[in-house]
Amino acid sequence: MSLVDRLGRKPPAGAPAPKAPARDGPAPDATPATSRGMATPGRLPTLFTRVESDGTLSTVDRLKVEIHHRLIDRLDLEALERMENEKDIEAQIRLAVTEFLRAESTPLSQAERDEIIEHIVWEVTGLGPIEPFFRDPSITDILVNNARNIFIERGGQLMRVDAQFRNDAHLLAVIDRIVSRVGRRVDESSPMVDARLPDGSRVNAIIPPLALDGPVLSIRRFGADLTADELLEFGSLTPEILQLIAGCVKARLNVLISGGTGSGKTTLLNILSSFIPAAERLITIEDAAELRLQQEHVVRLETRPPNAEGRGEVVARDLVKNALRMRPDRIIVGEVRGAEALDMLQAMNTGHEGSLSTIHANSARDALSRLETMILMAGTNLPNRAMREQIASALDVILQVQRFPDGSRRVVSVTEVTGMEGDVVTTQDIFRYRRRGITPEGRVVGQFESSGVRPVFMERLRVAGVELPAGLFI
Ligand SMILES: Nc1ncnc2c1ncn2[C@@H]1O[C@H](COP(=O)(O)OP(=O)(O)O)[C@@H](O)[C@H]1O
Ligand SMILES: [Mg+2]
Repeated sequence: MSLVDRLGRKPPAGAPAPKAPARDGPAPDATPATSRGMATPGRLPTLFTRVESDGTLSTVDRLKVEIHHRLIDRLDLEALERMENEKDIEAQIRLAVTEFLRAESTPLSQAERDEIIEHIVWEVTGLGPIEPFFRDPSITDILVNNARNIFIERGGQLMRVDAQFRNDAHLLAVIDRIVSRVGRRVDESSPMVDARLPDGSRVNAIIPPLALDGPVLSIRRFGADLTADELLEFGSLTPEILQLIAGCVKARLNVLISGGTGSGKTTLLNILSSFIPAAERLITIEDAAELRLQQEHVVRLETRPPNAEGRGEVVARDLVKNALRMRPDRIIVGEVRGAEALDMLQAMNTGHEGSLSTIHANSARDALSRLETMILMAGTNLPNRAMREQIASALDVILQVQRFPDGSRRVVSVTEVTGMEGDVVTTQDIFRYRRRGITPEGRVVGQFESSGVRPVFMERLRVAGVELPAGLFI
């Protein structure tokens, strides 16, 4: 988005339209909402200040608004436009604000000066009141329920913060700034948008009339670079479980990670992918790319929503079909949600073993029944039994992950899909997490237990040369 837009003013007639980033392909319509009448065109967004209960602004906040206005009048916007580097733009703004403050007669402490400078820079180049949260790597989720209610998640705990947007239009302007940067748009004709930011964070925005109380923004930071060691440290699984599931990945078993939203599915998928041998050719398919595969030989594909005219949609199913023609060693579907489940399973059954995917489900059995529903979405008329046979022969292991009330995440079961008995897919748990209770501080306690069953797939691991210590299953 252009700096002029970021500064909250309509570009002068004849100004070039803001460019959409090329990497997201042709943007359906990269015109920012501000110039389409969504966010009070022509009006300057006042700053993201908290208005006192009597409706007046504090001195510091009033100064922010004033200086922001003056900045827009004074700055050589065209010169700034030509600067490619965000850092240079930021430096220029910083300089100008510092100058204004120097001329200011109101007595200000150094902290207040710093706050004003920082906030104006954020307002112009960044995400306004949520920018500081965005910069804080310990914050994993930023959830804006409406202009006045912002929650963050840090260390697994959700908490309300007292930052606020000025009003709905301000929030909408920031949403627009975020999504137009990645070539998406949000307005009355497409009131929902799901996008991925350059840093991998995932953004969802939904606005009225679908959202009843004003625009809603949910930013889920890329389930940052958690490593296998950190998962062990957090007690999300045991070294034995990690060894076993790493062995399954190396031996090209088909693994499905199941869990609720935010339970750590994608994080675990990323970690598991690191056990794939480097020489393999991987094709990833996602709705909003958040996988960070370490391998060299990775081709990343992303689905595309329909454009404003309702055309041009590319769904995961199309991409799975296309991926099969790209000589993949493994296909990794970030999350199976619909008809692509059938194509995935068929691929797994026809020599593309070693696939990894995630699914939104509450238990391993629930994952199986959801897969059935998804196969039906593909519009096949496979009889139930045939459908289950597809599932049973394709899938080898289901890992169930869960988020606990204290914010911890664990692999709560490792389940082997063993086959069919009559019309039923049979499974057996190999490991389970048993929750014992909760400490006075609210921490969940429990332990991982082996069921004592030796998985049927152990032979496949052995053949693939995966050695596991004896006594893993006791
Ligand atoms: N084992 C874990 N322990 C603690 N936090 C985790 C763990 N796994 C994931 N997280 C955090 O939980 C959030 C959601 O993770 P993510 O993998 O995106 O979940 P999902 O894909 O299930 O929605 C991320 O912020 C991530 O850093
Ligand atoms: Mg996910």
